[in-house]
This record gives sequence, structure tokens and C-alpha cells, in this order.
Amino acid sequence: MKISVIGTGYVGLIQSVGLSKLGFEVTGIDIDERKVKKLNSGISTLYEDNLEEELKKFINENLKFTSSYEPISNSDVIFLCVGTPQDDFGNADLKFLYSAVESIKKYIDNKPKTVVIKSTVPVGTCRKIQEILKDYPVEVVSNPEFLREGIAFKDFFEPERIVLGFENPENNRSINLLKKVYGHFEKNNVPFVISSWETSELIKYASNAFLAAKISFINEISKLSDKVGADIKTISEAMGMDERIGAKFLNAGIGYGGSCFPKDVKALAKQFESFEIESKIITSTENVNQAQTTWFFENKIKKYYGNVSGKTFAVLGLAFKPNTDDLRESKAIELINILLKNGAIVKGFDYIEKARENTLNKYILSDSKSIGYSLHILDHLEDAVFETDGIVIATEYDFNIENWMKIKELVKEPVIFDGKNVLDSKKLKSLGYTYFGVGRN
Ligand code: UGA
Repeated sequence: MKISVIGTGYVGLIQSVGLSKLGFEVTGIDIDERKVKKLNSGISTLYEDNLEEELKKFINENLKFTSSYEPISNSDVIFLCVGTPQDDFGNADLKFLYSAVESIKKYIDNKPKTVVIKSTVPVGTCRKIQEILKDYPVEVVSNPEFLREGIAFKDFFEPERIVLGFENPENNRSINLLKKVYGHFEKNNVPFVISSWETSELIKYASNAFLAAKISFINEISKLSDKVGADIKTISEAMGMDERIGAKFLNAGIGYGGSCFPKDVKALAKQFESFEIESKIITSTENVNQAQTTWFFENKIKKYYGNVSGKTFAVLGLAFKPNTDDLRESKAIELINILLKNGAIVKGFDYIEKARENTLNKYILSDSKSIGYSLHILDHLEDAVFETDGIVIATEYDFNIENWMKIKELVKEPVIFDGKNVLDSKKLKSLGYTYFGVGRN
């Protein structure tokens, strides 16, 4: 079976390398020739655990990349994995998807093909694409992805479910083909959810919005916890012991970021709007998240100093989560911007070199060069904390490092603002630090 994967972003690249590891002959297609060249020489275009090693194993074997759509004509299955970014109004922008659909048209001959939509798309998109391709021997399938950045390759091989949506779930020729593509997972008893297009499309949005709502819920509770002197970490832990609630995604902090939750929550709210249904929980999830970083700054950092102008802060963690170089909608960057706007000097650090590089580039390229002069990106945590008035934790790395004792000697004032509630507050206090968390002190 020959497979084409269109788009080599997070989803497409993992899908291409993952399927080639499963033994399929895969061609990854991307209009960006520079990316294609890099990938063909075995260099990953994004940072993801284990990805480059695996890419190197299969490139020029059963995996190749190209900018031409020609391989479509020999492919049995075509995965569409292009980005669906947010447009100016908060909707998912489908221009890349529709443009890819137009591009594949001229390579579809009489041989039946299965076009699988992996991009996150609003309800009704698969139906529209099938309509666009109605004169071709094509069956459109919805197959949303549930990969987490940073561990996407592991998630590809250990999925919790595989969701497949069809125009007619009971009667279609593509199901057996896709069961072959994902045969490895069926053998390993991964559940398959077979549904209509609309159900499948909505499963993706509902899953992301629910996880985002869990985070906003605990962030809202954290504000009350803060006021009454309770401990949100213990609250989350005790809540999570109830299997109906579940322990994951109940970590309070400065809010969720990334390329998925913010965009998908907004796009889902827009879908409600387009059907004239009020979406109270989804809209509130977004509103709570929008306000969370500013709340942290006002109620913790600013409250402590009165005025942060001229103060120096180490911001530890730059990307939207650990082990990625992705700065999209990063709450760490939002916090840095708030600090800089309030006249503070920021020394940023992330364990991922590419995240540090991306942060530098972001500010160098931005219009805000003047505030950029107050930002320094350091390669070592010890340099970032040196002579600072406060340390801010902005990404949930395990910063419970042994040397907090040593770090205390490096800083001007031992104050920690734990924006991700990852530190052992008791231990830090016993070492002489002043500690502020989210919903806990
Ligand atoms: C998310 C989903 O978890 C994946 O299942 C989904 O496939 C993916 O979006 C997608 O749609 O492509 P990802 O964006 O990689 O994955 O990141 P998460 O690990 O879910 O974290 C998102 C944000 O929530 C991060 O900023 C993280 O710091 C924050 N978070 C997470 C919290 O603030 N508290 C928590 O308890 C958990």
C-alpha cells in the first residue's frame, strides 16, 4: 500500500515517520522546498523527542519527501495534515486545506483513493471536501489526531483510541484499508471508534475543549483557594482520586497555551455561534484562560513588589510546555511581555536550545525592539537567576533540582513565583525562600 501525507508540520511529520516505521511506503508532501530538502537529508524541521533518530532510519528507504503532488497518483491513501490556524475572527482557517484538496485533484485518475482528513476541522468540513471531490473516485474519511507535542512520537505508537469518521460508517470501502494502515494498533487492542464524519470531527473539538475546561476550572477554583488560604495542589490531588474526575489536567497555573487548545476552544465557540447556540462553558473556558496570566502577575508578582519597574526577573521556561521549542500562545511569553511592559528586566531560560533561539528571534524580529533590550536569553539556568529580584516558573519542567540552595546564593532576593505549581514549597521555604504559587502559598 502506498501512502501520501500532505503537510509536514507536527501532525504530518509524525504521521509520515510513524507510518514508515510501521513498514508502509510513505511520501511526505510539502510546498516548502527548504523543509523538503532538510527532511530528505535526515534533519527534522521541528523538535520532537526521538523524531530525528527515527527519520534518519527510514529516509531514502521507505520514506521520502517532495514538493510535487505527483505521488498522489500512485497513492491508495492520502492523509491531509495541513494547518488550520485561527483566522482574524477566531474561526479555523481552512485555506491551506482547500488549497491542498485542489492540488491533489489533477493527480487523481480512475483508481479509487481514500482521502483522510487529519487536520482539526470544524464540523461539516469532510462533507464539503467530499462535495468538492464528487466527480472523482474518492472517499473522504475523518481521522482526528490526539498527539501531544513533546511526546508526539510516543503518542503515535501508543494511542488511546483511533477515531474514524465516514459518510456512511456501515457501508464504505475505506474502512478495511484504514484498518490495514492502523492494523498494528488493532492487534494491540487499541479501541477503534467508527462514526459519522460529524461525530468524528466533533470528538476532536470536544476532547480538546474538555481538557482546556478542566484547566480553566481548576484555575478558577485556585483564585478562591488563594483568598481563603487553602492549598490547590491538595485539592486537585483529592479531586483526582475520584475516578470519575481523573487526576490529569487539574494542575493550576498561569493558563494553557500552545497551538491547539487556544485555537480549538475559540473555533468550537465559533461553531456554536454559527448554529446560533449559546456556548457558555466553552466561552468561559477561554475567558478564564485569557485572564489567568495577568491575574498571576497582578496578585502575586506586582503585589509583592508594589512596582516591578527596574526589577530583574528570571523566567524559567519559555515554550508553551516542556520539551518543545514551540512558542505559540506560550503563557511564558505572555508573562515576559507583561513584565517588560511594566518596566522589568527579564532573563529567560528554557532547557530546549531551540526554544531559547526561537524566543530571541521572536523579539529580534518584533516591532518591540526597545522592550527587547530588557530581555536576555541565557543558556544556563544559573546565569538566568544570577542577581535577580525574583524567579518566575513559567513552564512545568521538573525544577525540583538539588541546587536551590546554591541558587539562593546567586540571587539578589530569594523569591519564587511558581506559575505552574511544580515546586516543593515546604522545602523551598525551609531553605529561606519566599514562595508564591497559584492557589497556594
Ligand atoms: C493538546 C492535547 O493534549 C492533545 O491530546 C491534542 O492532540 C493536541 O492538543 C492537538 O490538538 O493537537 P498539546 O497542545 O501538545 O496537546 O499540549 P498539552 O500537553 O495538552 O498542554 C496544553 C497546555 O495546557 C500547556 O500550556 C500546559 O502547560 C497546560 N496545562 C496542561 C495546564 O496548565 N494544566 C494542566 O493540568 C495540564
